[in-house]
Amino acid sequence: DWNPGNVIAEQVERIRAQVGDARVICGLSGGVDSSVAAALVQRAVGDQLTCVFVDHGLLRSGEAEQVEKDFVASTGVRLKIVDARARFLQALAGHTDPETKRKIIGREFIRVFEDAAREVVAESGETGSEVKFLVQGTLYPDVVESGGGEGAANIKSHHNVGGLPDDLQFELVEPLRALFKDEVRAVGLELGVPEAIVWRQPFPGPGLGIRIIGEVTAERLDVLRAADAIAREELTRAGLDREIWQCPVVLLADVRSVGVQGDGRTYGHPIVLRPVSSEDAMTADWTRMPYDVLATISTRITNEVPEVNRVVLDVTSKPPGTIEWE
Ligand code: XMP
Repeated sequence: DWNPGNVIAEQVERIRAQVGDARVICGLSGGVDSSVAAALVQRAVGDQLTCVFVDHGLLRSGEAEQVEKDFVASTGVRLKIVDARARFLQALAGHTDPETKRKIIGREFIRVFEDAAREVVAESGETGSEVKFLVQGTLYPDVVESGGGEGAANIKSHHNVGGLPDDLQFELVEPLRALFKDEVRAVGLELGVPEAIVWRQPFPGPGLGIRIIGEVTAERLDVLRAADAIAREELTRAGLDREIWQCPVVLLADVRSVGVQGDGRTYGHPIVLRPVSSEDAMTADWTRMPYDVLATISTRITNEVPEVNRVVLDVTSKPPGTIEWE
């Protein structure tokens, strides 16, 4: 009989057998998979594990805090936070091509992560030791999909923050390899991972960097973060979080339109809402969500975010549209 307690007991044994007393590192993204994998390894080998959270500045409002405070409090995990916000902004400056942006973010992420891994060793004070093992939140569907090797996987270069490419010099620890998403959630809850993390909707590794259409700048990130926070708050308030697979909020940073607010003419930017329903993100349909919730989100964003004077709804299924805009 499948139950999360058995999975935990079995994986704890396996992890201990695999890593012995070596040092283990895990890249945390704040998402379900890397969080549950880290919690499981922490349960198995305690402080031999160091989690590294790279704050690339492309996160949504409150996400860094959620990892820093809630996750650490509930799991007792040892966490190293790297503030790489300036570095990512600098690397992204001047770039507008979606694939280029993705590659820059992926490349910078790996560099920052490798530096952090070296620091973890240096801080441990053990000369000659190195981090041998890397925890990955690989799930069963990921294993199947990457084996298939055709189709949607190559449409965009998916780099997984919290799931790094395996040409890094580590041996992988993948305690979730046999599990489906709903099973991972059950294991996470059993391990005491906060519900806000366990039930989090998918969020791409490159974060808000691929939800600003155009160049990524600090000011644009602030605008998008504010609009996104409003949309998420209202979707949660309306009880739609589990009905909607995810709802990217996208800033069309290079588009402007004329508006009128108060007695004044404005020339601001549009925000796109992209609520989708899906089983596995391979295909999706736009969510027929209640008009009154859309109206509230639109009113609040245009009232509270001065740079935005128009909110539009994306009514495209996947295919032909992907879920993300870049
Ligand atoms: P698309 O836009 O290809 O997205 O329809 C499918 C699903 O994948 C997520 N996504 C990513 N997740 N790293 C990730 O970890 C990425 O680079 C990435 N790009 C897209 C997207 O949010 C959706 O759930």
